[in-house]
Amino acid sequence: MSDVNQFTITEAVKKSFATEPGSRLELLLQKLIDHVHAYARETNLTHDEWMAALNFLYDCGKISTPDRHEFILLSDVLGFSAIVDMINTRGGATEGSNLGPFYLPESPDKTLGADLAGPRSGVSVLCRGQVRDTLGHPIPGAVIDTWQADGSGTYPIQEEGQDKYDLRGIFRADENGNYWYTTVLPKPYTVPYDGPVGDLLRAGNRHAWRAAHLHYIVRAEGMRAITTELFFANTEYIDNDAVFGVRKSLITELQPYDASANADIQLQRKPDAQVYFDFVLAPA
Ligand code: BEZ
Ligand code: FE
Repeated sequence: MSDVNQFTITEAVKKSFATEPGSRLELLLQKLIDHVHAYARETNLTHDEWMAALNFLYDCGKISTPDRHEFILLSDVLGFSAIVDMINTRGGATEGSNLGPFYLPESPDKTLGADLAGPRSGVSVLCRGQVRDTLGHPIPGAVIDTWQADGSGTYPIQEEGQDKYDLRGIFRADENGNYWYTTVLPKPYTVPYDGPVGDLLRAGNRHAWRAAHLHYIVRAEGMRAITTELFFANTEYIDNDAVFGVRKSLITELQPYDASANADIQLQRKPDAQVYFDFVLAPA
């Protein structure tokens, strides 16, 4: 057996894996070992700290259920999810942002101009824009899947007795790639902080609030789908969102509703305010 020390062990562990040379798995494993070992060396990690970290991960597993994935939340508050979103945004396309835990794959289909808010109280807002490709061509029939919290910062899916499909819907852009609908302006809300990730936030003197946002997945045939969020300028937590989801390009201006500027579209409900946002998709 060859002798190893705290420096040579990294190469020894890397060599112990017989992954296919040049494969993606090889790269991911080799880099993981490099960085995890470097972390221990650079911090002079103690046994107590090492054990605390492993117990923290154990606790994340213990609290996780099919509806609550504490490891995703951990990735979110560490900015890790944001880095993955940033790396995977294609040049010229709308920037990606958090999927979050409240996405449902089978939202109801809605017609353009529909109102998602129903009887919910709050500011009624027109969301309007166009879906284009990176060359500026409209994408007719693009699919706009949206979901959001209500005017008090709660997702219907979080509340007993509410229809989990409320405040969400799937729209299809018209022949010019345009979409429009009304909804209620969402409020900020906290990420779950009653588990180990909440303990981490408290230990770091951090809050758990997300800036108010609308979630979207936008897709079209032959194009790379984007998962993203829209935020509102000058609103609370826009500069310190708990999961680092805000990008400058995803901040919209909330304006008073301008009926004459929107005379060309039919709306189920007359809104109080409006936001315009165009989505840009890159080729697949
Ligand atoms: C959300 O946007 O719904 C969300 C994102 C990350 C963590 C928790 C919630
Ligand atoms: Fe959300």
